[in-house]
Amino acid sequence: MTLRVLAGGRGRSGSRSGLLVTGANQIATFAGGVRRGSAQDDAALLAVAQPELAVYDGRVIAIGSHEDVQRQLGAEGLTDERRFTTLDARGGTVTPGLIDPHTHLLFAGTREAELRLRQRGAGYLEVLAAGGGILATVARTRAASDEELADHGRHWLGQMLAHGVTTVEAKSGYGLDRPTELRLLDIAARLGVEGPVEVVPTFLGAHAVPAEARDRADATEAYLRSVLRDQLPAVAAQGHARFCDVFCEAGVFTADQSRRLLVEARRLGLEPRLHADELEPSGGAELAAELGAASADHLGAPSREGVAALAQAAAGDEPVVATVLPATTLFLMKDHGAPARTFIDRGIPVALGTDFNPGTSPTPNLPLVLSLAVLRLGLTPTEALAAVTINAAQALHLAETHGSLEVGKQADLVVWDVPGHELIPYWLGADLVRAVVKQGQVVLARS
Ligand code: NIG
Ligand code: FE
Repeated sequence: MTLRVLAGGRGRSGSRSGLLVTGANQIATFAGGVRRGSAQDDAALLAVAQPELAVYDGRVIAIGSHEDVQRQLGAEGLTDERRFTTLDARGGTVTPGLIDPHTHLLFAGTREAELRLRQRGAGYLEVLAAGGGILATVARTRAASDEELADHGRHWLGQMLAHGVTTVEAKSGYGLDRPTELRLLDIAARLGVEGPVEVVPTFLGAHAVPAEARDRADATEAYLRSVLRDQLPAVAAQGHARFCDVFCEAGVFTADQSRRLLVEARRLGLEPRLHADELEPSGGAELAAELGAASADHLGAPSREGVAALAQAAAGDEPVVATVLPATTLFLMKDHGAPARTFIDRGIPVALGTDFNPGTSPTPNLPLVLSLAVLRLGLTPTEALAAVTINAAQALHLAETHGSLEVGKQADLVVWDVPGHELIPYWLGADLVRAVVKQGQVVLARS
């Protein structure tokens, strides 16, 4: 298969021309809002034979059978065929563009030596405490030029796009000082404007305590104060970050410290999200529910109370999404992942992400994460796809515009080389993406 990236840029208002998607065997729309609970998901699939979809000005304007679509186009006064180009799905499956709601996109260097250390039994936090891990990447990232970081980001966004991803959350967090954190957020924002993949920047200044701040007894507290005083106001003034994240974990930042940071971030206009209970129960899930965070991520070891708090929050209008990252569990050589099945059974919306980063998940492949969620966490293929479309959109507070194929929504979609959506996680590690459309423009096509 040859792969062509057809458009590098993405205009703010999307495409001016129309696109008709024909010839699909199945369109999985994921219409019907955020998925909570494991009820039969009838709304996921368009229940018509030979479904079609029409796009205009970057938005979905019609969807249904051929006749339905023609009728809806007539009602819009858009019957002139010259306004539309056709994308023939050739018997494939169409889904919304995938959304990766948790990545550490921008960093320099690699950490393959840690694999050997962990094979010999070293713990992830042990490597960090010894000045390796995140801190090794921080040193490399501070030393990298803007151009090197942007080239790296562009390269990996291209890989994500080739796996069907059209929107990506990108955290800072390998600067741990004001200039580098601002640089990372600026590069993330610029890559999003450049397109075609849309980038949602998140500030993660509280990812670890940097090496230069570690020699005092109250190092974590002192560094947190500097994040609050020096980094956060500058990040808010810069205006790129939509969210503030924190590594809330025993031995990193406590739940109390995380609360102080996230409350102040919200006051400055950045919505909270958390790395919560990745390795052991740390009060992260409870804090996410208390604050009404956009999402609580990892959740490899939440407490019973934490799960109950998320279940209670899930009943509201703005649920806290549980963003589960099974590639990280695999890469950390752990047998047990997050209790995602329990989350779904208790009505908590579940999203899935790659956690793309150099230490615990160096993969850009979100379809592989779908397969892991099905094989290791007990999600059904439909639940797993909802977790990287509509629920991932909710985790980024984008569900009004992204994450499903419905009239009025942004036309981000993928044509897959399989006749049904259940085959996407089934073909483990295969390249199934045939075409990608972002805001109505065909941005990648394989022949
Ligand atoms: O999500 N847990 C904290 N942060 C990342 C790993 C970062 C790293 O090891 O470089 C994570 O797993
Ligand atoms: Fe992470």
